[in-house]
Amino acid sequence: MNSISAKILDGKALAARIKEGLKKEVARLTSEGFTPGLAVILVGEDPASQVYVRNKQRACAELGIRSWKHHLPADISQEDLVQLVEKVNADPEVNGILVQLPLPAHIQTEAVLDVIDPAKDVDGFHPVNLGLLAAGRPGIVPCTPAGVMELVKESGVDVAGKECVIVGRSNIVGKPLAFLFLQEHGTVTVCHSRTRNLEEVCRRADILVVATGRPGLVHGGMIKPGAVVIDVGINRTAEGKITGDVDFASAKQQAGAITPVPGGVGPMTIAMLMKNTVAAARRTVQTLD
Ligand code: GUN
Repeated sequence: MNSISAKILDGKALAARIKEGLKKEVARLTSEGFTPGLAVILVGEDPASQVYVRNKQRACAELGIRSWKHHLPADISQEDLVQLVEKVNADPEVNGILVQLPLPAHIQTEAVLDVIDPAKDVDGFHPVNLGLLAAGRPGIVPCTPAGVMELVKESGVDVAGKECVIVGRSNIVGKPLAFLFLQEHGTVTVCHSRTRNLEEVCRRADILVVATGRPGLVHGGMIKPGAVVIDVGINRTAEGKITGDVDFASAKQQAGAITPVPGGVGPMTIAMLMKNTVAAARRTVQTLD
């Protein structure tokens, strides 16, 4: 009964298709004299953050988007960091600003995110953008949740009326994703570390998204046969291998569709960042028209 394997939702291929479309739009904007530009701010030497920033800048280069990296020492003051954000806010060549997280402990993350111009907040982390999302109004949508929704669409499953279970309540993934599913008329449950009967709640899901940072938290026994399973986790094993929050081998025996790690959500996050940056550039052109 469980011998049918799930459809693999190939985030790498989907991201490549989206980036091809964006590349054409970047070329068009460039021909009009409005090359999109992304400023990336990286504080300290966290190796994972350095990899993410490199991948984001590489995607910009592929698409013809300009990018600037501001690499600051780990002991930079909050005041100096805020000043840099204000400087890039005022730079007309910069359409998107991204402050790579996490920031060092002596810096209040909110105090930095709150000064980013909401129109340039291509991560969608500014409270104005999060508020617009909660209200179902147009704004900039955070990249990973937007990428998850594209992967759900790719599965062919219509969200309307479905049980959508999200494991993880972060401001970056779980909470914004809940609003996106609501907007598509899903019935949404958000689980977290205090959730009782997690296994039972997960088994109700027609669409299950896992974003906890706990490798292998969800296994095949927690998945309703035929469900769509989206694994947001990126964990490194002791051997240096990247694995998700879902035990892929057992989960794919139950799921109707499932994302791999790597090659699922990760590439989609970057594609959505590029999409947000191009959209921000397009809006500045429209404002000038
Ligand atoms: N750190 C982990 N994920 C993200 C992200 O999507 N954006 C930024 N800026 N930092 C992150």
